[in-house]
Amino acid sequence: MIRAELKIYRAEILHFLDDPSVVGDANSYEYFPDGMLIVKNGRVEALGPTRELLLDIPPDIEVVHHRDALIMPGFVDCHVHYPQTEIVAAYGEQLLEWLQTYVFPTERAFADAEKARQVAEIFLDELLRNGTTTALTVATVHPTSVDAYFEAARARRMRMICGKVLMDRNAPDYLTDTPQSAYTESRALIERWHGKDRLRYAVTPRFAPTSSDEQLTRAGHLLRDYPDLYLHTHLAENLDEVAWVKTLFPQRSGYLDVYAHFGLLSKRSIFAHCLHLSDEEFKQLHQNGSGIAFCPTSNLFLGSGLFKLSTAEAAHIKVGLGTDVGAGTSFSLLQTINAAYKTQQLQKNILSPLKSFYLATLGGARTLDLADRIGDFKPGKEADFIVLDYKATPILDLRLANCKTISDRLFVLAMLGDDRVVKATYILGNETYSRKAQSGPTTTGIAGGL
Ligand code: GUN
Ligand code: FE
Repeated sequence: MIRAELKIYRAEILHFLDDPSVVGDANSYEYFPDGMLIVKNGRVEALGPTRELLLDIPPDIEVVHHRDALIMPGFVDCHVHYPQTEIVAAYGEQLLEWLQTYVFPTERAFADAEKARQVAEIFLDELLRNGTTTALTVATVHPTSVDAYFEAARARRMRMICGKVLMDRNAPDYLTDTPQSAYTESRALIERWHGKDRLRYAVTPRFAPTSSDEQLTRAGHLLRDYPDLYLHTHLAENLDEVAWVKTLFPQRSGYLDVYAHFGLLSKRSIFAHCLHLSDEEFKQLHQNGSGIAFCPTSNLFLGSGLFKLSTAEAAHIKVGLGTDVGAGTSFSLLQTINAAYKTQQLQKNILSPLKSFYLATLGGARTLDLADRIGDFKPGKEADFIVLDYKATPILDLRLANCKTISDRLFVLAMLGDDRVVKATYILGNETYSRKAQSGPTTTGIAGGL
């Protein structure tokens, strides 16, 4: 091993190998109470118990020891709107009125490149503060908003997916494109960004009501022309929206059939919400390998409904968690797990701590078809990881003292934790965010001295 390329981290370490509801809790994860993560050139080189790995590393190499802390893969946010950062927590409306009252006027400003740049920087720094290292992000209808986002993500070396909104009807004139301009502008953005560094592009019709048949046809052409693109949109979030889609597309058998008709269902298609789908529609999502972004803080905030996680599981559909800021009320995947747990409690379904942290990491990576790159610590994976501080707040410290297992501790982290718990966020093995921790100091020593 060439020493200069190696970075070694010691802490409690957890990562997931598979879905706990498929393989059972015991087979779903690896956990090292005193573990080491060895990173070489930004990728995972090795993971294991400290006492074993110590035997293989040069005695004078530096080891960064995070005490009273848990290292896990970075969180994956499967659905979020960066231009809505400034209107998070907007009072009083449900989806369609909320869009008209708050969202459309706010998104107008992203025609301005400087405005888009400023918000993209704030947004990405906020993701890092919350331990989120990858997100599937909606921009606005303006190509400038996508350029600004990808430039800011590239500067931080983050793995990100984004796309220009397609929207040619049922929205204010200042926020609409046309089938032709949407196609041409999307193509130019794809050529500029898709596959560059860690960035990928998602064709992003806002939702069926704001795209004409002709525009959805063009979206299908983009996916056909570039087979490895993503498709990202909203589906069956709100009952008024579902009824509206029925009147706008009377020939289609249901909401999902609108997207299916235009060739928009693939294994890289991600649909946010999916609260009001039939069993048949769930089945169709599975048959096409498409994924769902489960956005519980948003679903509660807008009064949209409760996601049927157990139905999605029974249908073997890929599911990840989405914050859906600005309809979602927190950038934190911990808080998103918290809300997810409660939405399932209301349906008498118990969401386990292991399953929920799987959803926030490897489950999200699988939903975004990125599990060959991120989501766990298998050798060769990109070393995006976070350090969670067990002593972040006095109550967390007190409550965790009563926990016996890693599963108990995960549950408490999600119920009581938020951005305060994230002590550090690493991108490709480099510390990109660090907060003043309450836990004991991070110590740096040499391997031979341990
Ligand atoms: N449906 C269409 N547009 C939006 C949006 O911006 N946010 C949410 N939550 N749902 C939508
Ligand atoms: Fe959304």
